[in-house]
Amino acid sequence: MTQNRQWRLRRRPVGDISAGDLELVTEPVSVPGPGEILVRNVYLSLDPTNRIWMSDQEQYMPPVRIGDVMRGGTIGVVEVSNHPDFAVGDYVRPGIGGWQDYSIARSDGPFPARKLPAIAGLPLTSFMSALGSTGATAYFGLLKIGQPKAGETIVVSAAAGAVGQVVGQIGKILGCRVVGIAGSADKCRYVVDELGFDACIDYRTEDVAAALKKHCPNGIDVDFENVGGTIMDAVIANMNFKGRIALCGLISQYNAKDAVPGPYNFPLILMKRLKVEGFIVLDFAAQTGEFIAAMGPWVASGQVKDRVTVVEGLENAVQSLGLLFSGGNTGKLLVRIGAEKQ
Ligand SMILES: NC(=O)c1ccc[n+]([C@@H]2O[C@H](COP(=O)([O-])OP(=O)(O)OC[C@H]3O[C@@H](n4cnc5c(N)ncnc54)[C@H](OP(=O)(O)O)[C@@H]3O)[C@@H](O)[C@H]2O)c1
Repeated sequence: MTQNRQWRLRRRPVGDISAGDLELVTEPVSVPGPGEILVRNVYLSLDPTNRIWMSDQEQYMPPVRIGDVMRGGTIGVVEVSNHPDFAVGDYVRPGIGGWQDYSIARSDGPFPARKLPAIAGLPLTSFMSALGSTGATAYFGLLKIGQPKAGETIVVSAAAGAVGQVVGQIGKILGCRVVGIAGSADKCRYVVDELGFDACIDYRTEDVAAALKKHCPNGIDVDFENVGGTIMDAVIANMNFKGRIALCGLISQYNAKDAVPGPYNFPLILMKRLKVEGFIVLDFAAQTGEFIAAMGPWVASGQVKDRVTVVEGLENAVQSLGLLFSGGNTGKLLVRIGAEKQ
């Protein structure tokens, strides 16, 4: 009988994830029921929000329950189909596939299985990156929340990460000045030399507020905020009157054990009449068609590039999640669970 390895949450991490918070267990693969499909997962998406889901803080989805398979996005191959819309061999997103080799999925419910869009010639990893939910986060967060106009200045933090790399490239397509903030000289070189950002600030070696002043001579109109903390404070200090902050993420705080202070420049939101709006990519689920129609040609033509960092083996998922918090990834972080189709 085929076995299914699964990461199950055993206890809620305190601070950084530690050994024993999750456990790798093996059980027989389940048999799909009427209307269901069995999917062999190929790639697992590792996301900062995985850490949020492990906690019981107030959040936008229910926390993963103790004992449950860890929640996570996957793509995989249909191995058994009891549904007319899916054929054996199709590549699909099985809704939320979870941190496991095999998932049972349905075409209904809150996270239905979907076939991957037919865009020829792209690596499968693009559907987990620029054409996946991180690309959608960049697209909707920038266009619908940040609402930049040509000629304006956009700043994006975690600029060389999954979301950030796409945000900056869309900003350039829109005719904006784009300044990234990232955690190494190599990452800064990547976003400027390979992706076409106008400038990038290495927050580990530079005074971010001073560097923003230098690289944003006309001030900042849109902050695509991925990090929070002192980086966000430095951005707020350089925002223009009526600027917009698309609050996408606060990764600097996800492992915090205690209450997080700040932002210290909060009064400037009042003084400069800034608009701060949080969003979750799921808010835009009904507009996925618009996203694919815009992003598909950008990725296919090479106008939007997406680097991926691929870790081998489901068994390495937990330790690899830490790369997101140490800055060990460039671009989208994925785990290869199994082989792609031949
Ligand atoms: N709202 C939504 O729907 C939504 C959806 C997806 C993602 N997000 C958010 O978007 C942000 C980026 O997510 P992602 O998936 O694209 O991850 P990512 O950027 O690929 O990876 C996270 C990056 O954050 C940086 N980072 C980690 N800790 C930091 C700290 N203390 N200070 C400064 N930078 C730090 C690291 O890059 P450096 O080397 O540059 O430090 C790391 O590589 C996260 O906050 C995430 O929660 C939100």
